[in-house]
Amino acid sequence: MKKRILLGVTSGIAIYKTLDLVSMLVKNDYDVNVVMTENAKKLINPIIFETLSKNKVYTDVFYRDMDVEVKHIKLALNSDLIVLAPLTANTMAKIANGIADNLLTNIVLAHNKKMILVPSMNVNMLNNPITQRNIKQLEKDHIVMESDFGHLACGDYGKGKFPQAKRIFEQIESYFVDKDLQDKKVLIGCGATIENIDPVRYISNFSSGKMGNELALCAKRRGAIVTVVCGNVKSDYRDFGINYIDVKTNEQMYEQLNKYFNDTDILLMPAAPVDFKVKNKKDTKIKKIKDCKNYDPIEIEENIDILKNLTKNKKKQFVVGFAAETNSVKEYAISKLKDKNLNLIVANDVSNKNIGFNSDFNKVFIISKDEIKETEVLTKREIANKILDSIVEKKCL
Ligand code: CTP
Repeated sequence: MKKRILLGVTSGIAIYKTLDLVSMLVKNDYDVNVVMTENAKKLINPIIFETLSKNKVYTDVFYRDMDVEVKHIKLALNSDLIVLAPLTANTMAKIANGIADNLLTNIVLAHNKKMILVPSMNVNMLNNPITQRNIKQLEKDHIVMESDFGHLACGDYGKGKFPQAKRIFEQIESYFVDKDLQDKKVLIGCGATIENIDPVRYISNFSSGKMGNELALCAKRRGAIVTVVCGNVKSDYRDFGINYIDVKTNEQMYEQLNKYFNDTDILLMPAAPVDFKVKNKKDTKIKKIKDCKNYDPIEIEENIDILKNLTKNKKKQFVVGFAAETNSVKEYAISKLKDKNLNLIVANDVSNKNIGFNSDFNKVFIISKDEIKETEVLTKREIANKILDSIVEKKCL
């Protein structure tokens, strides 16, 4: 069944940005009911919200629509989640003090679940001790999103900006996920490393980092404190409260992972570190030579095995390795499970071009010392959740 979001819209200048949020929610199959304050209606016509949400917009506490039920009680009870965005300092002050003088504040008072609040205002109004006290008060019962930093509508520069719609959307998605990894420290090695040949050229591989990024997002949604040590790959999830540390080489990835490893509950290592490094790396750019025979051959030497070195100091940590193979998938994976001192290994067949590297899909074996599970072809997000499910089962967290 569709999740029902009641979106309370107050009269912040960022109100037009809420339209993006409504559109994003509707496209992702949420049922959105918008309630506006009278002042919000002066800034934007409710028809736009009605068109995007495909639902009637409510404002008036006494409006009955030939309905015998009390509107604010019905709206409060019928919603799975209330989101207030943008939330002005004024409405925030009212709800922090239990004032119910319009439809929106009546609904809020009649709703007894945790809400998502998105304050947005001028930096001085935000920093005012009264507003800060109200935020602290509301944080006891609700999720108060941090506003962004930047140029504000009034011309000031500072904190108070309405967050990007995708960040609010992510907070909403996360709200509905069970927190079975609450406060667990999850460390992830993600993506490809690179090893320089000269200052402008390098050796690397085709890893997209998608598996690592999906694991990070899913673990974060499940309540974990997530740190990603990230190789040479992109991520769309950098604004979602995940700690991303960018590295280039194996040495750097090892150094950063090692820094966090001691204090980690779960290490996930879908990274694709380069197995070789260049022995005769040049400090200056190799220039083009007409006769290719005169180039120095590139000499390679073995690079550090990050995972194997980390697990030498393994204590309480639950460690998950990954194995990308083209043949004898399970056999090679089982030998890596033992050799690298892992609790679990996730293996996949990279000879299939439709899944694995760079694809959004994969099909994997999840292997522990006493069990082998095989998944269907699933999205990498679904695979990430299957891996986390296996960890929750095994670790009895
Ligand atoms: N790994 C690592 N450091 C390396 C190579 C791999 O930490 N230098 C990690 C990977 O992140 C993965 C696991 O070890 O979690 C297995 O990686 P894989 O590339 O499948 O195996 P290799 O150990 O490199 O062995 P081979 O390339 O011979 O299959």
